Amino acid sequence: MSKTVLVTGGAGFIGGNFVRLLLNETDYAVVNVDALTYAGNLISLQDIEDHPRYTFVHGNICDEAVIQNVLNEYAPSSIVNFAAETHVDRSIQGADEFLQTNVLGVQALLKPVIAGNIERFVQVSTDEVYGSLGPEGRFTETTPLDPGNPYSASKAAADFLVRAAVNTYGIDACITRCSNNYGPFQFPEKLIPLMIHRASHGKTLPVYGDGQQVRDWIHVEDHCRAVLAVLERGKKGEVYNIGAENEIQNIEVVRTILTALDKPDSLIEFVKDRPGHDRRYAMDNTKISRELGWHPTVSFAQGMQATIDWYSNNAEWIQSIISKEYIRYFERQYGTASGT
Ligand code: NAD
Ligand code: TYD
Repeated sequence: MSKTVLVTGGAGFIGGNFVRLLLNETDYAVVNVDALTYAGNLISLQDIEDHPRYTFVHGNICDEAVIQNVLNEYAPSSIVNFAAETHVDRSIQGADEFLQTNVLGVQALLKPVIAGNIERFVQVSTDEVYGSLGPEGRFTETTPLDPGNPYSASKAAADFLVRAAVNTYGIDACITRCSNNYGPFQFPEKLIPLMIHRASHGKTLPVYGDGQQVRDWIHVEDHCRAVLAVLERGKKGEVYNIGAENEIQNIEVVRTILTALDKPDSLIEFVKDRPGHDRRYAMDNTKISRELGWHPTVSFAQGMQATIDWYSNNAEWIQSIISKEYIRYFERQYGTASGT
């Protein structure tokens, strides 16, 4: 019988792509526990909802009874935790939910691992825990954590909890820290889907500050394959950085989208900068390449074209997930003038 993986947050962007990877390319059975917040959508999983190795459980990772029931019923051997509040701008508007899910939720998930009921725990973290880089250098796994906003602070806290559980209780856990993802099914509050969605409707593109901040972009499929490599071959207690060596300024990303959609640069609108905006992220992925044999396979040019095509061909997906809550968030963040 195939082993079962408990994937949390599998109705979100990366978790959903990971669930699909497990079902399509491995023998694992998958139980997906997701609270279906504004960012979680079962519409994104319609193609696999009837898969014989897939089960969805609507639940919150902070709810220990939900997790215990999943353990009793499906006996997963491992947990891969994607569930989180993930948007920096929302964390600046208010961080309570970030601490609840990203910190206390991880603490709740660690309990059955500490009790010996789970063989392996993978915490999906982020490069943002390292803070902001100057113009030179890259983050390695030994770079000190120096989070610069409430979201990254909550993720760093979770990393410390996982590390403490490895050290104190000897649990088998790994932490992955990946750079900025793009690809299909990303919620249209993040830079790339937001800009594609707005540009394709001829709306202004709000670029924060001078637009010269740098992010290190990776296609979501490459990230998911890296997490799978860590689940299967990662060494107990280790941290693995994941990145695809695509350092690009935000303004350049936005111009790439405008060019691909044949829209004018005049849609760009420089707006007030994000408070405490991290200037640059860049990942050194030497460790995971050397030790686990993982390498990114999707070039930025190829991945972006495929992503722009996907959003153009799936315009109804965005329409179906945009709610009143999104419109209210959008107004708080950008003001009413820009419109959704
Ligand atoms: P997302 O916001 O698209 O999805 C998050 C999912 O978690 C949603 O389905 C949501 O319903 C679910 N969720 C939230 N709170 C929950 C709770 N209390 N219980 C159960 N489910 C809950 O996020 P994403 O972009 O797919 O990110 C997934 C993970 O990857 C996060 O941990 C994030 O920190 C990490 N990460 C993201 C990126 C990126 O670029 N998006 C990069 C590196 C790491
Ligand atoms: P985002 O997708 O929110 O990811 P993160 O903050 O986790 O890196 O933002 C990516 C970059 O794009 C970041 O430097 C902020 C910038 N940005 C804008 O300039 N305008 C926007 O409307 C958004 C959402 C982001």
